[in-house]
Amino acid sequence: MKGLVSCALNFVAMLLALSVVCLSLAEALYLRSFPEQEGQFWHITDLHLDPTYHITDDHTKVCFSSKGFPAKNPGVFGDYMCDSPYLLIQSAFDYMKNVDLQPKFIIWTGDSPPHVPPEELSTDIVINVIRNMTNTIQAFFPDLQVYPALGNHDYWPQDQLPVSTNKIYEAVTELWKPWLTPEALKTLIKGGFYSQMIDQNLRIISLNTNLYYSPNNETLGLPDPAGQFEWLEEVLQASLKNNEKVYIIAHVPVGYLPFTINTTAMRENFNEKLVEIFRNYSSIIVGQFFGHTHRDSIMVLHDTEGNPVNSLFVAPAVTPIKNFYELQTNNPGFRLYKYNLADYTLLDIWQYYMNLTEANEQKKPDWKLEYIMTKDFNINDLQPKSLHDLVKQFEKPQSQEFQKYYRNFIVSYDQHIVCEGICKREQVCAIQFLDYESYTNCFR
Ligand SMILES: *[C@@H]1O[C@H](CO)[C@@H](O)[C@H](O)[C@H]1NC(C)=O
Ligand SMILES: *[C@@H]1O[C@H](CO)[C@@H](O)[C@H](O)[C@H]1NC(C)=O
Ligand SMILES: *[C@@H]1O[C@H](CO)[C@@H](O)[C@H](O)[C@H]1NC(C)=O
Ligand SMILES: *[C@@H]1O[C@H](CO)[C@@H](O)[C@H](O)[C@H]1NC(C)=O
Ligand SMILES: *[C@@H]1O[C@H](CO)[C@@H](O)[C@H](O)[C@H]1NC(C)=O
Ligand SMILES: [Zn+2]
Ligand SMILES: [Zn+2]
Repeated sequence: MKGLVSCALNFVAMLLALSVVCLSLAEALYLRSFPEQEGQFWHITDLHLDPTYHITDDHTKVCFSSKGFPAKNPGVFGDYMCDSPYLLIQSAFDYMKNVDLQPKFIIWTGDSPPHVPPEELSTDIVINVIRNMTNTIQAFFPDLQVYPALGNHDYWPQDQLPVSTNKIYEAVTELWKPWLTPEALKTLIKGGFYSQMIDQNLRIISLNTNLYYSPNNETLGLPDPAGQFEWLEEVLQASLKNNEKVYIIAHVPVGYLPFTINTTAMRENFNEKLVEIFRNYSSIIVGQFFGHTHRDSIMVLHDTEGNPVNSLFVAPAVTPIKNFYELQTNNPGFRLYKYNLADYTLLDIWQYYMNLTEANEQKKPDWKLEYIMTKDFNINDLQPKSLHDLVKQFEKPQSQEFQKYYRNFIVSYDQHIVCEGICKREQVCAIQFLDYESYTNCFR
């Protein structure tokens, strides 16, 4: 009997090993079939380093970021109640470096400090954490170009990013000198935003959308904080004239939050304004990339006639943190985008993740591919039309596609959670409707 069980177990182990071999074989074949016209880049976001993280018997003392609540199941790579230990962040970069997918550049959309009460931090501590993350990225990728954006936590007190120069804009201007042009640094030091050419005809615009974030009291009542709207329109106008394509990166996303009803991440008037600008320049904006929600989601911007005109992506966080009252969170994740080198349109996402529970059990950083967007959803590319058609699939009752989308939304945190009814409605409305009028219509 014992022999049989162990034989069966061996057999299962063998099958598992085989499936791993087959998967990597398939990956290798897929890799080899990349045509020359494709490029790729990494997107990392919301690293949220908690330098206080350590394993100890008293679970309320594992990390300051659990705010006195007990850690769930602390291990070397972290805990779902805590921000990232340094080891988790290192393991992510280590994997990205070794998997060596020949990225052209990295985008990094902010939020380096931990979620702790303001008394635990200071301007100097925040600068030190951003410096630590900047130096760590530079040590892992000395030859790669990185395009950063500031997050709402990249300031002290958090969320209160100002409309003029200050110690933190000055510090990041110094820290990010190796990556940015003098022209980019000139606006970064003044308002926390910049633009720079990535390639012959491709421009990146890094927005400081924290100026529009609802809790930011510094910008209350201002029509155009730090003159960013005016600057953005000037840059886009010039890009249009010069036949450039544009990638937008920013921390706080435009549009409605997908896990609640009728709530924009930005103040509503700022959201309306930004949507209008993005619509007006949708012919040259070929990709938009955000962080902040810590979850994996997409949005499709439609023009006023309802045609899909832009694809937007919110990448999940490296930190797995949830607060005590939340039932769900995300596993740690980062991603690779593939794009067409001829016209810079987006072709695919390769999303990577760590099963935190499993990694801690095995004491091994088992980063792996979670999904390939075009394969998982059987779509051709990430063009607005493709995503628009996909969300129409999601809307069907009992849509398997939507279940996959929701599993990815929480980065495979829990395969048993289903999102139906109002939960699903919130998701599909937030994906498709970014302005007040169309979003409100979605709930009629
Ligand atoms: C970043 O901080 C961690 C501890 O939180 C430390 O171990 C590491 O050496 C620091 N790295 C750099 C590059 O400053
Ligand atoms: C921002 O303003 C709100 C409302 O006046 C206030 O409750 C909050 O404490 C302020 N936050 C900061 C960081 O000043
Ligand atoms: C949505 O929110 C706005 C302002 O935040 C409010 O004016 C409106 O009544 C809300 N709509 C619904 C349907 O709750
Ligand atoms: C967008 O374009 C319309 C039509 O050309 C124009 O009336 C509007 O002022 C533009 N809005 C912005 C914010 O650029
Ligand atoms: C993550 O690992 C845990 C523990 O091994 C396992 O129970 C769970 O099913 C895994 N989740 C996924 C999505 O593989
Ligand atoms: Zn964050
Ligand atoms: Zn944030």
